[in-house]
Amino acid sequence: MRKLQAPRGTLDVLPPDARRRLRLVEIAGDVLGRAGYEPMETPVFEDTELFARGVGESTDIVQKEMFTFEDKAGRSLTLRPEGTAGIARAYIEHGMHKLPQPVKVWYAGPFFRHEAPQAGRFRQFTQIGAEALGSDDPTLDAELILLLAEIYERAGTGPSRLRLSSLGTPATRADYVDELRGYLRAREGELSEEVRERLEQNPLRAFDADHAGTRAVMTDAPRLIDRLSPEDADHFAEVRALLDAAGLLYELDPTLVRGLDYYTRTVFEFESERLGAQAALGGGGRYDGLVEELGGPPTPGVGWAAGMERMLLAAGEGTAARSPTVFISYAAPDTARTGFLLARQLREAGFRVESEQAGRSLKGQLKQADRVGAFATVILGDTIEVKEMQTGDQREAESWDQVLALVREVTQP
Ligand code: HAM
Repeated sequence: MRKLQAPRGTLDVLPPDARRRLRLVEIAGDVLGRAGYEPMETPVFEDTELFARGVGESTDIVQKEMFTFEDKAGRSLTLRPEGTAGIARAYIEHGMHKLPQPVKVWYAGPFFRHEAPQAGRFRQFTQIGAEALGSDDPTLDAELILLLAEIYERAGTGPSRLRLSSLGTPATRADYVDELRGYLRAREGELSEEVRERLEQNPLRAFDADHAGTRAVMTDAPRLIDRLSPEDADHFAEVRALLDAAGLLYELDPTLVRGLDYYTRTVFEFESERLGAQAALGGGGRYDGLVEELGGPPTPGVGWAAGMERMLLAAGEGTAARSPTVFISYAAPDTARTGFLLARQLREAGFRVESEQAGRSLKGQLKQADRVGAFATVILGDTIEVKEMQTGDQREAESWDQVLALVREVTQP
């Protein structure tokens, strides 16, 4: 029989890792919640057209990476490759522009991209994301960036580099691309063949070239960031001033490109050296045209998403702490029912309680108590004893109330 395995590019999350992931979601919920962001959920699959229109027909994501299928009625559906388009769709569908603005939300869940799997790159991965819709106030851009930095800090992902830029509006960008194309054409002879071939389609690619001649040409090339409209330049200056005031370091990087078409104005990405080739810990930016593109009223928006698997990779091993455990063990037959009920009582009192459930000898049970990290073990025999695991001290309890008192004494000496 064929051996069944998890599909390529997916991963099973086993208990210790799953706990670390839950912990990350808790951290994000805490950090974002204190800034007024509310949790929100959208479907894992959507109308394919949402991503074609939202993320952009010409992006790698839409052209090559989507898991698209037909349902039984012949509708084209796609497993979501990212979360912003779905949030924007739901914002329109539920008339959320009528709520007090901005609408601030966050989400965590699975996303799907058909990419070649490698370290830190999966076909099913998990993002934590945050979005603020309905205002173009630059404090939102800065607030979101600072909140993401705080989440990384609390998650222990280590040092990261923040790259920051502004893309202006689509019109500014179109004018700029024309200007860049003209500039490159004038020095065509010095460019690599690859860049020359892509000159018509995508002259921006020239910024990524390794070719020495091309690089020399690019040092003097016009930069989009110098062509921003006065309003966009002011907006960006304010975002930077806020980050400066908050003491967050960043690098201005006019070559920062994001793989999604909806961005306008601010864009940013956090990178970690601990990640190797897939260095992006998370990123985002402003998308002032997205809601309108999807058929809603003109509505600015800004947000980010962070890859959970990459955050954990950067944070390294180390398990999220478990709450203190009490272990219940059996030293005499016919004590199992007592133990079962005592476990419930101790759990009600707020303890994490495990009991022997695999028929081990008393010695084996105490070993198991150590393995689950118990600070106290209740031994049910002819008497009830409470053993403090660290010291080995053992005391008899006359009643369940006394068991509770002794267990409490051990946790809070
Ligand atoms: P993105 O940069 O495409 O942005 O993805 C955000 C993060 O998701 C990446 O930085 C990375 O950590 C993680 N990620 C992406 N693809 C994979 C993969 N194949 N395997 C593992 N992790 C991955 C967005 O998705 C935008 N929706 C962010 C945004 C929100 N912009 C505005 N609002």
